[in-house]
Amino acid sequence: MNTKTNTMKNQINQLKRAKNAVILAHYYTPDEIQNIADYVGDSFYLAKIAKQSTADLIVFCGVSFMGESAKILNPDKKVLMPDLSADCAMAHMVKPGAIEAMREKYPDLAVVCYINSTAELKCLSDVCVTSSNAVTIAKALPNQNIFFVPDRNLGSYVARQVPEKNIILNDGYCPIHAALSADQVHMEKDRHKDALILSHPECEADVLSQSDYIGSTAEMIAFVKNSPSQAFIVCTEEGIAYQLMADNPGKRFYFPQPRPCCADMKQNTLSGVLSVLEKEDLAVELNEEVRRRALLPLERMLQLAK
Ligand code: 13P
Ligand code: SF4
Repeated sequence: MNTKTNTMKNQINQLKRAKNAVILAHYYTPDEIQNIADYVGDSFYLAKIAKQSTADLIVFCGVSFMGESAKILNPDKKVLMPDLSADCAMAHMVKPGAIEAMREKYPDLAVVCYINSTAELKCLSDVCVTSSNAVTIAKALPNQNIFFVPDRNLGSYVARQVPEKNIILNDGYCPIHAALSADQVHMEKDRHKDALILSHPECEADVLSQSDYIGSTAEMIAFVKNSPSQAFIVCTEEGIAYQLMADNPGKRFYFPQPRPCCADMKQNTLSGVLSVLEKEDLAVELNEEVRRRALLPLERMLQLAK
């Protein structure tokens, strides 16, 4: 590690202690961010940690819907992000009008909103889900008709697991996972025949259908830890490799080529974390009415996922 990086890490740690701050990071952020974070996890874990946090400052290294969810769940805290422009393209991929139209068509409709969505979209929803609890929550809802927004891939994965419900899909998608093709996965499998295929449910159905395991980032990490297999083809964003390699020094990990990379997640840098801790300037701000309404589906998720 170079001297500049070391100096920044020391400064970050000093400021963290002095200001009673905590750093949360998603598995897709750069290695050096995961390395200095107090908590690293999938979207569900990070939302729970943000809600419970007693720190004065929460530095959230992820994308905007994650920082927003932290602020919605724990409004008295200052939630800072190293780069407020780091966003998730999928979070905007449903029109409010589509939700209204669906509610008119199905009076008993439950709007199930992937946490990868803006606070405004959460306000129009009945319950939020993450990739680790979407199936459990869809099953637990009393409603027969479910409009799953914004992700068509997670939605159709849930629909296959919960065939007893009418799950209506919306055409949103993660550009990183949707770009990953079944051919690219076949090519890796040809090269590494002993490898198990792990996929995130944001991948397209033809990738999921050839996977040995499907789960959230944290679920994939837990699966690899407990698996006797020595090699894995990992169909998700490349940042997950940091934790996979840290946990399993002897195991081999391959990614479909080109390696899936979310540019927004990579906007989280050590210099950004240091700057935001020094200046406390990049705070997540939400209109109180929006925050209050968006809280309901998030709280319902925490309740139903128990
Ligand atoms: P999880 O970490 O919850 O699996 O989410 C993946 C993701 O795309 C976050 O943006
Ligand atoms: Fe959004 Fe996809 Fe990036 Fe996750 S990987 S933040 S779903 S664009």
